Order: sequence, then C-alpha cells, then structure tokens
Amino acid sequence: MRILTAGESHGRGLVAIIEGMPAGLKIKPDFINAQLKRRQMGFGRGKRMQIENDSAQILSGVKAGITLGSPIALLIENKDCSIETLHKVLSPRPGHADLAGFMKYGFSDIRDVLERASARSTAATVACGALSKIFLLEFCIRIVSMVVSIGGEVSPKAKIEKIKEAVEKKDTVGGVFEIRATGVPVGLGSYVQPDRRLDARIAAAIMSIPGVKGVEIGLGFGYGQRLGSEVHDPIYYEKGKGIVRPTNNAGGIEGGISNGQDIVVRACMKPIATLLSPLNSINILSRKAAKASVERSDICAVESAGVVAEASIAVVLADAFLEKFGSDSVADIKAGFAHYLKRIK
Ligand SMILES: Cc1cc2nc3c(=O)[nH]c(=O)nc-3n(C[C@H](O)[C@H](O)[C@H](O)COP(=O)(O)O)c2cc1C
Repeated sequence: MRILTAGESHGRGLVAIIEGMPAGLKIKPDFINAQLKRRQMGFGRGKRMQIENDSAQILSGVKAGITLGSPIALLIENKDCSIETLHKVLSPRPGHADLAGFMKYGFSDIRDVLERASARSTAATVACGALSKIFLLEFCIRIVSMVVSIGGEVSPKAKIEKIKEAVEKKDTVGGVFEIRATGVPVGLGSYVQPDRRLDARIAAAIMSIPGVKGVEIGLGFGYGQRLGSEVHDPIYYEKGKGIVRPTNNAGGIEGGISNGQDIVVRACMKPIATLLSPLNSINILSRKAAKASVERSDICAVESAGVVAEASIAVVLADAFLEKFGSDSVADIKAGFAHYLKRIK
C-alpha cells in the first residue's frame, strides 16, 4: 500500500491518496467520519477543534460503496481556510519545526513552515487509518488506544487535574498513550530485511506523529532492567487450545514478525510546543530578542495522538497483511487467509 497526503492547516483542505487497497471492500463513510471525530476530542483540546467538524469525501476508487482496487482519493475540507490572509509569524516557537524549517526552505514568514508542519495533517492520517481499519475488521483485527499517563499522573482524576493545572498556568502537558491491536495473526512482517520488520515499521509510523518522542513495544525499556528468564514469554502446548503464551512481554512481535499475541505499543508525547505564556525566542529577521509566537492551540493532545497512532498502526498492519495474503481482491485474500490458518493450526 502507498499513501501520500497533502494540505496546509489553513488551506482549502487535506487530501490523501491510498493506493493498494484491494477490490471488494465495503466502505462505510460513517466509520471514517467517526474516527475523524474521535481525533478532535479529548480533554485539553483547543478552539480550532470546535471550528473544524471533519468529514471525509471519497473522490475515487469506490463505486456503490465498494472499493475498485484503484487509488482511493479522500478530501477533508478545512472550514477555516484563511492561509492567504493570516498574519505573518516571525518568532519561532521552541519545540516546533519553525526555526529549522524557516532556515531550510529560505522563507520570509514562519507561517510557510507551520502550515504544513501542523498536526492538522494528522486528520488525513486518521482517514487513511480508518480505511485500513475497515479492511482489518474483515479479518477481526481491532485496534484501540488509551491514555496511560498525563504529566506523570496515572489516575483518571489526577490526569484531568494535571491538564487543568496546565490551563491555569498557561502551560501545556504531555503524556504516554498505549495502542493495542487484537486478532493479529502470526506471520505479519519478517526478519529477512531490516525494513520488513513489523516492529521497525510500527515504530517508524508512531514516531512520525508530530510530538511523539519515544516508542516502545511490549516491555520496551523495561527489558533493560531484568534478567532474560524473567522477561521472555514461555511457550506451551495445550490440547484443544494449541500454542499458549501465558505472558506477552514481547508485545506481540518476536524477530520482527507478529506472533499471534496482542500487539502492544506505548508512546510518549512531549508537551504541546505552543505556549500561551511564550518562551524566549528571537525575531527571525532582526535577530533581536522576542517572545515566541502564539497560535491558537491545544493544551494537551495525548488522547488524540492515541487516535492518530491507532490509524498509523492500522496502515502498517493492513500493509503487512496485504503483503502476506495477496492484494487484489478481498475474496481472494479471505481464501488465502483461511488456507493459511488451516496450515498453521
Ligand atoms: C493530535 C495532535 C494535536 C496537536 N495539536 C497541537 C497544537 O494545537 N499546537 C501545537 O503547538 N502543537 C500541537 N501538536 C504537536 C505538534 O504538532 C508537534 O509538537 C510539533 O510538530 C513538533 O513536534 P516534533 O518535534 O515531534 O515534530 C499536536 C500533535 C498532535 C498529534
């Protein structure tokens, strides 16, 4: 599967082209829009989310609600299309692409960086992920996410308090989220080349989400603190049940291949870089001291980042599934999958 997205934060809209989705898949636009809505929710989101009520239009690749196997083009229109008239941005925000992007591309306005660097683009990721989820659901593969901690706090009440505290202090806060994929069969990904490893592909996809700074699979960094006998998941065989693994420290992937257990991924998102009480910066033209620019912004987007991560993992899993079981028609893939399940039983 190949995916390309385009679109600026305050441009006309976001566009995605997905090539490689097989023919014969029933597409439910309501499902795609529900995923887009989930991305916009979560405690700590800013005013922009109240303006945008995202919905995806399918422009190609689908007829009578069924995929044709041809590229699927999606459009999410921006309600707030103001890119031509928005004010210039001249003070780069620490923690954003502002400074490096401005220097790299030779712009005279930092807005020309932030319009594309903005996490608005993650709406396109979520739409592509929704299509991938629809495909995966045909094979009973489901992906969910949850917020593990906010600013180091883990209880539901303390997490909310932490966000409220950040709002009060005109600050921002990050956190950790977890994504879990259930029903993933043994055999997605491979050890034969580094870029075919499922763990590497998942890590790259999650690390591509703006603001994500750490990714771990299964026990992750916890592996570094224990003995091998304490962490590797023993293998048993039980009549009637088949192969049984009582623990899942591997997070569902061994040797770059899914092992049939749930895939469990955790990621850390840094605090939002736009601060209402801005950090020290400079005026990029005069180089004189200035406070960093302030844009309309979220205070905490960890829950939404989890929704984006579900989509990112869905794309990786759908891609790996298509590699393993064929890629043209859902009916053929189902036949190949049934044959495979019988063989490995
Ligand atoms: C769903 C989501 C919403 C975000 N909302 C904002 C925001 O409102 N303001 C902001 O400054 N950063 C926001 N971010 C984070 C920035 O996009 C990110 O910190 C920035 O791109 C720099 O991070 P990087 O160094 O990982 O690229 C958001 C990220 C995600 C995933």
